[in-house]
Parts: sequence; structure tokens; C-alpha cells
Amino acid sequence: MPIRVQPIYPDFAAEIGDIDLAQPLGDQDWAAIDEAFHRYGVLVFPDQSLDGDQHLAFARRFGPIEDSAKGFAPDNARLRLARGIADVSNLDLEGKVWSPDSKARGFQLGNQLWHTDSTFRVVPARVSLLYGCAIAPVGGQTEFADMRAAYDALPDGMKAKLEDLVVEHSITYSRARMGYVDFGPLDQGGLGKVPQVMIRRSERTGRAALYLAAHAGRIYGMPDVEAKALIDELLAHATQRRFLYLHRWRQNDLVMWDNRCTMHRGRPFEDLRWRRDFRRATVSDEIPSCERRGLAVAAA
Ligand code: OGA
Ligand code: MN
Repeated sequence: MPIRVQPIYPDFAAEIGDIDLAQPLGDQDWAAIDEAFHRYGVLVFPDQSLDGDQHLAFARRFGPIEDSAKGFAPDNARLRLARGIADVSNLDLEGKVWSPDSKARGFQLGNQLWHTDSTFRVVPARVSLLYGCAIAPVGGQTEFADMRAAYDALPDGMKAKLEDLVVEHSITYSRARMGYVDFGPLDQGGLGKVPQVMIRRSERTGRAALYLAAHAGRIYGMPDVEAKALIDELLAHATQRRFLYLHRWRQNDLVMWDNRCTMHRGRPFEDLRWRRDFRRATVSDEIPSCERRGLAVAAA
């Protein structure tokens, strides 16, 4: 049986049925998934049953796996899952709900800011595949913004202004948005300030998208006050309700998104009460976004 593609909105987010991702994919199914992924940006696969290896095997179809432990492990002891799978749960090593002062808790609160994954890395994330093994009964949704539709809705003058801009991303900028002032050892491991293009164009569909995240802090060649105002304005523009899809999780949903043309954020839930066991495989983008666009970085 061919897979079933059920759009949620005409060009954003789709549910995929009649597919078991634990099995190796045939060429036809793979082509249909790949096609849907590039059209909809967010795909929901309900009712999957995946171990770490199966999760990673599916992710690998989209490119190389990002090593989430590399350079930036908020709590080195907390490797509950296989290498290559990021722990996005609220659980400690024994699988119990974390304590209020857990380091991982402080770190993961950052997922509640609008972002796209790993833009603070020189080579950012291309695709993220998040598997919801245990879900919170109330709250804990994940919300997505369609950055292609947000781009399309900008006035022409703004599009022209943004076309060749390069934005400086760093985990310290998103941390500052959260109110952290003491960054501790976060800048270690090669996670400094990195340049990313403001506008990305899909090599597959040709569609342009705004490329922003809470990690964005400065714009090369622009005074900081002006850059901050512009970034805030664009984040507000892109997260208007008309560009959003809110995913209410069912247990065993696998949701994947294209980090090149969407932003996302986790919604709050009672994290000291409910177990929310979420695991993410992340596919890396292979080369820096500026290199892909052929944009040189002017000195900051
Ligand atoms: C992520 C993320 C949000 C959530 O896994 O990259 O931002 O709802 N998750 O868990
Ligand atoms: Mn994320």
C-alpha cells in the first residue's frame, strides 16, 4: 500500500499514514516521504514503534547524524540514550522526573523560545526527528512556524534589504533572552559566535525562507541596536498565528521538521509532575549556510 499524505494546511505540515518507520523503506515510499517533507516542512508519523537504531536509520536517509554530545553537553553524566540521540525528556538517569534544580532542566527551558536547531553551530541542523515516547496529558505541545510563508508575506523592500544579510548566532544570545547572565562554560567546545545567512533558499523547491532563531544576536555590518530591533521585528512577524501549526502530541508520534525553513518551540507543561520522554535524532547540514549561499562574512 502506498503511504498516505494528509495535509494539515495546504502547504505546511502533513500527517503520514500507512508507513512503519521501523522497517527499511522501499524506494517508492522514500520518494513520497522526501517529496512531502520538502513541500510541507513538518511531517507527523503517528503510532510508530522505534528503538534508537531504527530512529537513527530513518534519520540517516536525510543526511549525516549530528553528534549532539559534541562540544556541548549540558550535563555530561546525562547520557540516558544511545549516542546520536538527544535526550529532550524531563527525566534523570533513572528515568524519574528531574529535580527543580537539575542542570538539564535549566538548559531545556531554552527549547521554549522560538528557534531552529543548532544554528549556534558552524554547520547547523538540517532535519530534526523527535519521537514522543511518553507525553504530558496537559501542555507540552510543540509549535512550528512556516518561515517560507513568513518570508513570502514580507514587503518587497524588506525582502531586498534582508537578501544578503549575515546574522551572528550564539547560544549565549538565547541564554541572555532567558535571563541568564552567568554563562559558565558554555563557550567551550567550539561553540562561539557563528555566522548564518538571513535568507535560505531551498535547493529543491527554490522557495526562500527566513532563517532566524532565539540564538540570533547581531547582524554583520549593522549597528547592534538596529540589528536587535530588526531581529525582534522579524521574529514577531514570523510567529503570527497565520504562520503556525501547534502539534498536540499523541504517544508514539514521530514528528520531523526542516530546520532550514521552519522555527519551533516547546510549550510549557508541569515538568515536575508529568514524565515527558522525548528523543531526538538530528541530521546535520554538512556545510555552513554562508558557504552554501556563497556569501562572504564581513568582519563583525
Ligand atoms: C527540540 C525541541 C521542543 C519540544 O527537540 O529540538 O526544541 O517540544 N523540542 O520538546
Ligand atoms: Mn529545538
